[in-house]
Amino acid sequence: MPMDITPTIKGESVHFHNPVVEFFEAVGGEDGMQKLMYNFYDKIYESDIAHFFPQDEDEFDKIKVKNTKFFIQICGGPKVYEEESKGMDLNEFMIRIHDDFSITEKSRIEWLGTIRDALNELEGIDEKLVMDFWSYLENFSKLTVNSFPDGSTYYAAYDQAKEDK
Ligand code: HEM
Repeated sequence: MPMDITPTIKGESVHFHNPVVEFFEAVGGEDGMQKLMYNFYDKIYESDIAHFFPQDEDEFDKIKVKNTKFFIQICGGPKVYEEESKGMDLNEFMIRIHDDFSITEKSRIEWLGTIRDALNELEGIDEKLVMDFWSYLENFSKLTVNSFPDGSTYYAAYDQAKEDK
């Protein structure tokens, strides 16, 4: 599957749409998303960006469980992350969460490469649906980059497809 990564360009606004619910359904609902995301976070624990996350396994497991709830909700599943985001727009909330970490383009590429590996391990799912989820991740992840080679932190403008609002 051509899960390409396009560069984050400083000053360029980011367009994205939330994943279609058909991906969530095809992957097997909440249980399927859990399997996918736990696999992703297990890979993160072994990745070049592991140092961003708690090193203690129990603490890391808590992050894994919490983060998976976000992905269940953003993919159109039940609103299991609502308590965390306190009614804020989910994507806006997620950008702000990442402000606490210095995320470079290199870390974004590692993050995307890791989730791409987990997505490639899915079996029997329509390629178009996987690509739709990828498109969300690939575009949205640009908004988590907040540390540029020239030392600046730039907050990109973004444009979320209207039907998601
Ligand atoms: C599509 C892009 C991304 C999505 C959807 C996403 C999603 C999330 C979610 C749901 C959380 C948990 C927020 C909370 O409730 O506390 C989180 C936290 C975090 N994310 Fe991301 N993330 C993305 C990209 C990245 C990238 C590129 C990095 C690069 C290192 C990253 C690093 C982190 C870190 C360090 C945390 C905090 C973990 C902690 O609480 O210790 N994320 N992310």
